[in-house]
Amino acid sequence: MMLLLLLAIIFFPLLFRRWLTTVKGPKNLPPGPPGWPIGGNLFQFILQRQPFTYLLRDLRKIYGPIFTMQMGQKTFVILTDAKIIHEALVQRGSIFASRPDESPTRLIFSFNKCGINSAKYGPLWRTLRKNLATEMVGSARVKQCAWVRKWALENHMGRLKESAQEKGYVEVISQCRLTICSILICLCFGAKLSEEWVKNIDSVLKEVLLMTIPKLPDFLPALAPLVARGQLRRATALRRKQMDILGPLVQARKVFVESGENPKSSSLDMESPIGAAYVDSLFSLELPGRPDGLCEEALVTLCSELINGGTDTSATIIEWALLHLVLDQEAQQRLYKEIVEVVGENGVVNEDDLEQMPFLNAIIKETTRRHPPGHLLLSHAATEDTVLGGYNIPKDANIEIYTPWVTQDPALWTDPEEFRPERFLPGGEGYEVDWTGNRGVRMIPFGAGRRICPAWSLGTLHVGFLLARMVHAFRWVPIPGSPPDPTEKFSFTMLMKNPLKAIILPRS
Ligand code: HEM
Repeated sequence: MMLLLLLAIIFFPLLFRRWLTTVKGPKNLPPGPPGWPIGGNLFQFILQRQPFTYLLRDLRKIYGPIFTMQMGQKTFVILTDAKIIHEALVQRGSIFASRPDESPTRLIFSFNKCGINSAKYGPLWRTLRKNLATEMVGSARVKQCAWVRKWALENHMGRLKESAQEKGYVEVISQCRLTICSILICLCFGAKLSEEWVKNIDSVLKEVLLMTIPKLPDFLPALAPLVARGQLRRATALRRKQMDILGPLVQARKVFVESGENPKSSSLDMESPIGAAYVDSLFSLELPGRPDGLCEEALVTLCSELINGGTDTSATIIEWALLHLVLDQEAQQRLYKEIVEVVGENGVVNEDDLEQMPFLNAIIKETTRRHPPGHLLLSHAATEDTVLGGYNIPKDANIEIYTPWVTQDPALWTDPEEFRPERFLPGGEGYEVDWTGNRGVRMIPFGAGRRICPAWSLGTLHVGFLLARMVHAFRWVPIPGSPPDPTEKFSFTMLMKNPLKAIILPRS
C-alpha cells in the first residue's frame, strides 16, 4: 500500500493529465460516488474489503438505475434497473454488444481476444459464435452427444453412493463440478477422461478464472509496468500449465481426425466420431482475416472458455436448488412424485423426459432468480460513444450489468426473498416471464440480447438432468446437528460459503 502511495505521488502529474482527459473529457456521465483525485473510487473500493458486487448493491441504493465509478484510469458504468438493462442489451443491442479492452493478464488467457466471450463485436466473434451454435449446442449435436451425459451420469451416481458409504454424506458442489466438467471436456475433445485427469483440468481452469479477476494494476495501466511484473510472470506460468494440460488433448484429437485412428503415443480413446467433438469444427473453421486458421493456443482458449463457462455456473445452480430441496422436504417430495409419474419408480430418467417435468423446470428458474450464479454479466462495451438513460456513455467505458436487483425488486416480484418455484407454474407471476430477457427483463441469468449465453439451453439441460437423477434415486436430508448454511461467498459465481453437505437415502 505504501509503495503504491509513493508511486502515485511520483506519477501524479502524468495521472492528473490523464484523469483530466479521461474522466472530465466526456461531460454528463451518469452520477456516481465522489472519488479521490488519483484512483477515483478505486482505493475506496479496496479499503472497503468486500466483493465488488456488494459495493454495487450499496451504491445502487444511493445512485439508482445507472451510475458511474471511476476505477483508476477506467470508467465503469453500472446498470442496475430492468428497463435500462433491456434498453441497452435488447432494444439497442448492437450498440452495447462489444467487450472492453482487456488487461495484459487477461490477454494472455484470451490469446489476444480470440474467444467468443472476449472478442469484440465483429466478424471474428460472429463466426466463432455461429460455429458454437451449430457445432456444440445445436439440437442435432446435442442429441448425437446424449451418450456423453449418460456415461457421466452413471459415474456420478456411483460416486454419490461411494461418498455416502465412505463419509456418511455427499458434498454436492464438488461432485457436480466433476461430472459437468467431464461432460464438457468430452464434448470438446471427444474423449472420456479419468476422474483424476478431469480434476486436474478443473483445478487449472479454476486457477485461470481466479487469475483473470481484475487486480489493482489492471485499473492503473500507467503504473502497470512497475507493479504488474510479478502478476504477469504468474499469469504466463499458469498459461503454460493450461497449455500443458489441454494441448495434448488438441493434438491427440487432431491425429484422430486426420488419420481416423487413436494416436499411438497417447493413452486416450477417442469415443466421439469424427466431426462430433467441438474442437473438430475449429480445426477447419475459416475465419475472416485469418487465412491460417486457428493455432493450438487459440484452440485451447476456445475450449477452455466453454469448460470454464459451463462448469461453475451449472454446478452453482444445482447446489442452491438442492439446498432448498433439503430445507423443504415437501417440495422435494413433490418433485420426486413428478419424476416418478414420468419414468416410474424403477425407471431411469432420460434427458428427453425433462420436458415433461414442469415443477423441475420451475425449481431451476426460481433458483436462477433467487440465486443468479453471476451477479454481474461479463463486462460489455459500446461500439461507439452513445447516450443511455439521458447520460453520455463513452466508447471505452466498462459497462457492468448488475443483475440481483432485477430479481430482488419488490416492484417486479412478490416477496422476492422467498424461494417459491410455484411462481413459474401456470397462473404464477413468473409463468410468462421470458428468462432470456428478449420480451422484457424480469430475470436474466444468462444475459440478454446479442451476447446472451449461447449455451443456455445446454447448461439448463445439464442442471435439470443431474437434479432429476439425483432426486429420483435418493431422498436428500440435512445432516443432524449440522443444518445447511445459506450464507453466500463470491468466487467467480455466488457460491454457498460452506458447501452443501447432505445425507442421501436410497429411494428403493
Ligand atoms: C446454466 C449455466 C450457465 C449460465 C447461468 C451461464 C451464464 C452466462 C452469462 C451470464 C453470460 C454473459 C452474458 C453477457 O455477457 O451478457 C454467458 C456467456 C457465455 N457463456 Fe454461459 N452460462 C451457462 C452455461 C454455459 C455453458 C454450458 C457454456 C458452454 C458450453 C457457456 C458458454 C458461454 C460463452 C461462450 C459465453 C460468451 C458469449 C458471448 O460473449 O457472445 N455457458 N453465460
